[in-house]
Amino acid sequence: MPNFRPCLPLDVLSLSPLEIEAYVPGDPDGLYAGDLASLRKSTRAFLDAPLPDGTVPHLLTTARRAPSGANLQPGKFIAVEGDARARLSAALVEAWRAGQAEPEDYDYFPRPMPMHLKRRQLAAAQALYGALGVERHDRAGRDKQFERNFNFFDAPVALIVTIDRDFGAGGYMDLGMTLYGLMLAAHREGLGCCAIGALASYPGLIRQTLGLDERSSIVCGVALGYADPAAPVNQTTTTRCELDDYFTTIR
Ligand SMILES: Cc1cc2nc3c(=O)[nH]c(=O)nc-3n(C[C@H](O)[C@H](O)[C@H](O)COP(=O)(O)O)c2cc1C
Repeated sequence: MPNFRPCLPLDVLSLSPLEIEAYVPGDPDGLYAGDLASLRKSTRAFLDAPLPDGTVPHLLTTARRAPSGANLQPGKFIAVEGDARARLSAALVEAWRAGQAEPEDYDYFPRPMPMHLKRRQLAAAQALYGALGVERHDRAGRDKQFERNFNFFDAPVALIVTIDRDFGAGGYMDLGMTLYGLMLAAHREGLGCCAIGALASYPGLIRQTLGLDERSSIVCGVALGYADPAAPVNQTTTTRCELDDYFTTIR
């Protein structure tokens, strides 16, 4: 691989368009967006430390610089706090423990899952449960970790991400870019986060508990806060498939 460093400073996410235009590529003191992308990973255990006031609006304002088709900027982020958060997590845990199922607002995974994707899914699960020392056949151990999704991994900030139900795949794609912008901006601020697709299993329950209207499709949750560096779960390291698997040239 060539030693390619994208010519954008690390804090590009917090720059205005004018500042970005004025940026001098090759600044030797600059940190790079590519570094940020390489260093980010999912955080699933957090310190019991509040975020400075205004952190979430700041991160979201930055993330919202993401591009979107026709600049429609789909999606909403809802911070769930206090009693509402306690009620939501209790309802989700109860539903999950009871084995309740409801129709999801959107399809995430291909059904059936082809073998090459199953292998990637398994590798991610092994990375997670391996870091925790949970054996493959330890159902109780895996369930315990899975249940933590519904408590937002005890993060100081719990977000629910929604999109208007009339949006199709393009809107989800745009919202995904904002989500990634949020992850990178959080990392830039020394914070960790994890998207929680597991919440999309209970869209009706989430709408009902939070009093959301029927137009709000539930996309995922986000847990955000200062990563606990000592937590085994935060030692999870995932890999990526080879370039040849997803890049080709046709002449
Ligand atoms: C939209 C989305 C939903 C996710 N949902 C969950 C989830 O419910 N629980 C979880 O532990 N991790 C979840 N993840 C994290 C992925 O497992 C993780 O991104 C992937 O394994 C790659 O690891 P990395 O983020 O550490 O690079 C989700 C990630 C994304 C982008």
